[in-house]
Amino acid sequence: MAEQLGELTRTHTCGALRPADVGANVVLLGWVHRVRDLGGLLFVDIRDREGITQVVFDKDDETLMAKGKRLRSEYVVGVEGRVRRRSAETVNPKLETGEVEALVRRLTILNEAKTPPFPVADETPVSEDVRLKYRYLDLRRPRLQNNIILRHRVSAAIRKYFDANGFLEIETPILTKSTPEGARDYLVPSRVHPGEFFALPQSPQLFKQILMIAGMDRYVQICKCFRDEDLRADRQPEFTQVDVEMSFARPETIYGVIEPLMRDIFAVVGRAIETPFPRMSYADAIAKYGSDKPDLRPGMEIQDLRELFRESSFRVFRDIVANAGTVRGFVIPKASHYSRSEVDGIVDMAKQQLGATGLVWARRMDDGAVTSSVMKAMGEDAVRQMLDATSTGPGSLIFIAAGEPDSTSKLLGQLRLILAKKDGLLRPDDYLFTWVVDFPLLEWDAEEKRYASMHHPFTAPHDADLDKMGIDPGHARAKAYDLVLNGSEIGGGSIRIHDASLQSRIFSLLNISEEEAKLRFGFFLEALEYGTPPHGGIALGLDRIVAILSNESSIREVIAFPKTATATDLMSDAPSPVDAKQLRELHIQLREQKS
Ligand code: AMO
Repeated sequence: MAEQLGELTRTHTCGALRPADVGANVVLLGWVHRVRDLGGLLFVDIRDREGITQVVFDKDDETLMAKGKRLRSEYVVGVEGRVRRRSAETVNPKLETGEVEALVRRLTILNEAKTPPFPVADETPVSEDVRLKYRYLDLRRPRLQNNIILRHRVSAAIRKYFDANGFLEIETPILTKSTPEGARDYLVPSRVHPGEFFALPQSPQLFKQILMIAGMDRYVQICKCFRDEDLRADRQPEFTQVDVEMSFARPETIYGVIEPLMRDIFAVVGRAIETPFPRMSYADAIAKYGSDKPDLRPGMEIQDLRELFRESSFRVFRDIVANAGTVRGFVIPKASHYSRSEVDGIVDMAKQQLGATGLVWARRMDDGAVTSSVMKAMGEDAVRQMLDATSTGPGSLIFIAAGEPDSTSKLLGQLRLILAKKDGLLRPDDYLFTWVVDFPLLEWDAEEKRYASMHHPFTAPHDADLDKMGIDPGHARAKAYDLVLNGSEIGGGSIRIHDASLQSRIFSLLNISEEEAKLRFGFFLEALEYGTPPHGGIALGLDRIVAILSNESSIREVIAFPKTATATDLMSDAPSPVDAKQLRELHIQLREQKS
């Protein structure tokens, strides 16, 4: 039976006691981490958020010892005892409290615990489903405790930074109208307005813009966003953004606010990062890294080899160049360790997994000899020339692909990352940031046969590309930027359209009729006409940033209560059916009843 807390008051956390406390009478409150019963002596590790302290039961007090022997893992206890120094041979250097222990004088068993489905006291691997179902037990383990504490410290640093820089944190509604960010909405039916729905915000985009119209000047919010989209390791249906908007901002204004913020965030883990971050156009990112979120850590930039092959003896590539295709390749500088069969294996893997049709390689051995998969077709001299021209020195290897420019770059970009990872070149504690800028304003949706916004429809076109809007909108660039860190998109934003007539033109380019625009965003379009300042902003993915800082490959590890890859909460068992009365009140009739 559980005992009451009564007057029991914590004097120290379980991480606090040191040799200076020897002789003190203390009260510790926490969980039983481990029990070691040596017969005459009983050692119990007591754990709380701050650490672990060893307490000892002595056989001299039989009643107390008997009570101590009832203790099991995860029982909740209050321990009163006297601090004493551990003998030299029992000092535990792994614990901050490891030089001392407390001799128990009184034990209060505040609660018992069922045997946990996995041990809390060690980090034995446990299936993720079990960890998610018993999230409260997983959260007791050091890995998640540290991640959640780090997350708090990062949020606190962010709030401090924005407050010091004149930003106001303003809450925007959760029950709202749809804001297009490219995903499906989560809808909430209205009881009092039959047949009508709120949408949970995919982002506070329109509200933050309206706050600029409202004269708030600098806004920030650490907020939840909801998107019903396909989930991956870096995507959750509800996730947290650090959402920012500023009046009278140019892209540089936003970079100037975000770069020092990132410095403060990384200072939380004691890392100094260099600012300003490099800026790379979207076109360059695709050409050099085959991705709009380039990972700069391995180097190994993709090179344009068209000129080398325009007049080449190697007909396949020469013909591709002649037909407006491309030839591109990247060099692995330290590749002596790759055996011939390994290189052939990489080509096979690229064919099977990445859909590579003609992937070619060439290498210079440590002794200067050259070999290539197309040695015969190209001839040794031409291979050697190509290796010279691409700086493929002794011990280096180049992979080359040819075809349509974007898909060729994408293929090489994927291969580059697979090989960099294999060779240990993606070091987790190298932090390489870049801004990717000058995104295309629109992308062609071949299925729907219409343009879609690359960012969102409120993004402003480049001043220099305004005249393209009428004739060649597909080539207009946007004042949009993403912040990329080690191949992960950790933020995205843009300068907005602040002119109602340009906003209407964009809607018509997107095939959104005036009527539809009015229905969906009428309130916003009207607001635009009441003196809207030029403005822009960005939203950072807090979960992704904390995941990178804690070196976790999934954002689930830095969210207290995440959803599974199929968007369910295994702990609370949500989503779940609701009763017929609730549905009736919401005016909802189901087509199929879940059995
Ligand atoms: P965007 O859609 O690019 O922009 O989102 C901003 C950042 O939020 C993070 N993010 C996610 N993180 C976890 N799970 C998800 N499902 C998820 N989706 C996005 C990413 C991303 O870079 N309103 C605009 C911002 C603006 O224009 O100011 C927006 O939401 O790190």
